[in-house]
Amino acid sequence: MASLKEHIDFSNLPKHIAVIMDGNGRWAKKKGAMRIFGHRNAVQAVKDVTEGCGELGIKYLTLYAFSTENWNRPKAEIDGLMELLVSTLKQEIGTLMENQVKLATIGETSNLPPDCQKNLAWAIDQTKNNSGMILNLALSYSGRWEILKAVNKMAEDVKAGKINPGEINESVFENYLQTSGIPDPELLIRTSGELRISNFLLWQIAYTELYITPTLWPDFRKEHLYEAIWSYQQRERRFGKTSEQLNPVS
Ligand code: IPE
Ligand code: IPE
Ligand code: MG
Repeated sequence: MASLKEHIDFSNLPKHIAVIMDGNGRWAKKKGAMRIFGHRNAVQAVKDVTEGCGELGIKYLTLYAFSTENWNRPKAEIDGLMELLVSTLKQEIGTLMENQVKLATIGETSNLPPDCQKNLAWAIDQTKNNSGMILNLALSYSGRWEILKAVNKMAEDVKAGKINPGEINESVFENYLQTSGIPDPELLIRTSGELRISNFLLWQIAYTELYITPTLWPDFRKEHLYEAIWSYQQRERRFGKTSEQLNPVS
């Protein structure tokens, strides 16, 4: 079968793709299984998409793995997700190294169970010199939490005389965000058809192109990624300008 990859314009790839990996529970339910079965089957999608992005040469992939609000789920599901994170890190470290993937996180990771924190720190340290793509996991993350944390830190710095309030602009503010140094995502993918942002990267997605697919996350594969990128490449990103300004008739 022909792959959509052949239709991708390699000169117009996003540098940063963000994904709201949603639909694991519904995927499991459709199969008459427990929700955790969906989460376990989500690992293959993560592997496939990471590999796909790496092969295309996309530098940053940010995956929404666990939101601040997800702490309100049943304890058994949270425990299962945290255990899955640890076992996946241990299992996949070799592949991350082979593919030169550098692991990073955003979010309040100090809220994660100690075993999770330990293994994350270990995997981040192991992969710190890798020169390929950056795999950024959003864990215990929410956009509002991130913005408030940035505002807090900025207020401290103003109080300490490190910055003047009048100097605060977009680029100063961005330095205080968890994603400091990472370009805003050009493309945000959400699986499972929900038409919402669910408190993800609120600041960073100001001008991001959205791609929402009914495919449930455990079913998402490279070919779906290619479709999302292809869709992104069909769009005209105007950033407030007119189409005529972008395409002047010569
Ligand atoms: C996404 O799948 C994974 C996490 C939020 C951790 P869900 O668990 O939200 O699956 P649905 O939305 O209930 O199908
Ligand atoms: C968003 O999915 C969070 C992650 C994918 C980690 P949710 O399933 O938690 O989102 P809502 O609650 O349906 O908006
Ligand atoms: Mg969900």
